[in-house]
Amino acid sequence: MRVLVTGGAGFIGSHTVRRLIAEGNEVICVDNFNDYYDPAIKERNIADFSDNFTLERLDIRDADGVKEVFKKHKPTHAILLAARAGVRPSIESPMLYHDVNISGTLNLLEAAQETGVENIAFASSSSVYGGSKNIPFEENEWPLLPISPYAATKLGGENLCRYYHQQYGLNITCLRFFTVYGPSGRPDMAPYLFTKWIDQGQSIRRFGDGTTKRDYTYIEDIVDGIYAAIKKKIGYEIINLGNNTPIVLNDFIGIIEKLLGKKANIDEMPEQPGDVPITYASIKKAKQLLDYTPATSIQEGLEKFVAWYLQQTK
Ligand SMILES: NC(=O)c1ccc[n+]([C@@H]2O[C@H](COP(=O)([O-])OP(=O)(O)OC[C@H]3O[C@@H](n4cnc5c(N)ncnc54)[C@H](O)[C@@H]3O)[C@@H](O)[C@H]2O)c1
Repeated sequence: MRVLVTGGAGFIGSHTVRRLIAEGNEVICVDNFNDYYDPAIKERNIADFSDNFTLERLDIRDADGVKEVFKKHKPTHAILLAARAGVRPSIESPMLYHDVNISGTLNLLEAAQETGVENIAFASSSSVYGGSKNIPFEENEWPLLPISPYAATKLGGENLCRYYHQQYGLNITCLRFFTVYGPSGRPDMAPYLFTKWIDQGQSIRRFGDGTTKRDYTYIEDIVDGIYAAIKKKIGYEIINLGNNTPIVLNDFIGIIEKLLGKKANIDEMPEQPGDVPITYASIKKAKQLLDYTPATSIQEGLEKFVAWYLQQTK
């Protein structure tokens, strides 16, 4: 496969690129290295790649630029991961999230359709389920009521994908990722922030009483799911990629405390708008269509994450 990966310098993107290259594929990485978090981290994420790797520094909001890149490289496959991620910042900057996640996605789908890409995977999110009480979350839930601009843009992205499938016959799998963590994890996300705060003896800003639950999913399991999805043409499907084992926030903090051998000082903050009480993936469909079986428990995954954290802060 010659795979165009947008957001390939990011957390999930760079792990995906590594797998694609290891499996003998060619990769064209599209990323604009924006400063949502330190761009030096993204530069480091891709620093090791050279063979079968081409970098295009490009903003997916640039429709002409996107078309040129597709024409130049003629990718056979595309994995669309570039987005403004993060629920809370989307409440501050809804227009930016719309421009990147909706208009940017549209530019990519349009270019993919014109150049005839065989198969596409699109990064969606568990946040589209909003505060749903139907657990575990199943892909056919309706109506979906997202409670943040970020979640609404991801649902919008899925719908654009559906349209491009119906209108032009593109094969597209929308993957709803459930809180992804692991080495080179995003510095704005809870696993990184909690580990940093506990390690440095700073107070943890915990939103709510710590009883919220998240279905944390280890990065290599997510990459297995993405790789399976890009290899298999199945028309248009929406598939959850989660761990199917939610963990209570306080227990999650407890594991990190034990791994670091340090106690957390907890600063309880009010619950945040946009936050949901639980995420919990049904992975029946992922098993059936992609043979997806997450193999990493939260204990094992956090051990790997904390080891990486300590090593890179040495
Ligand atoms: N990490 C998670 O837990 C999680 C959960 C659900 C969904 N997702 C989705 O998965 C995808 C990857 O997330 P991540 O955690 O790796 O985030 P990330 O921020 O590390 O990666 C996103 C990458 O996209 C790039 N990008 C952003 N805007 C761009 C633009 N306009 N043009 C070109 N490149 C641009 C960024 O520079 C970054 O390298 C995103 O679509 C995100 O919404 C992530």
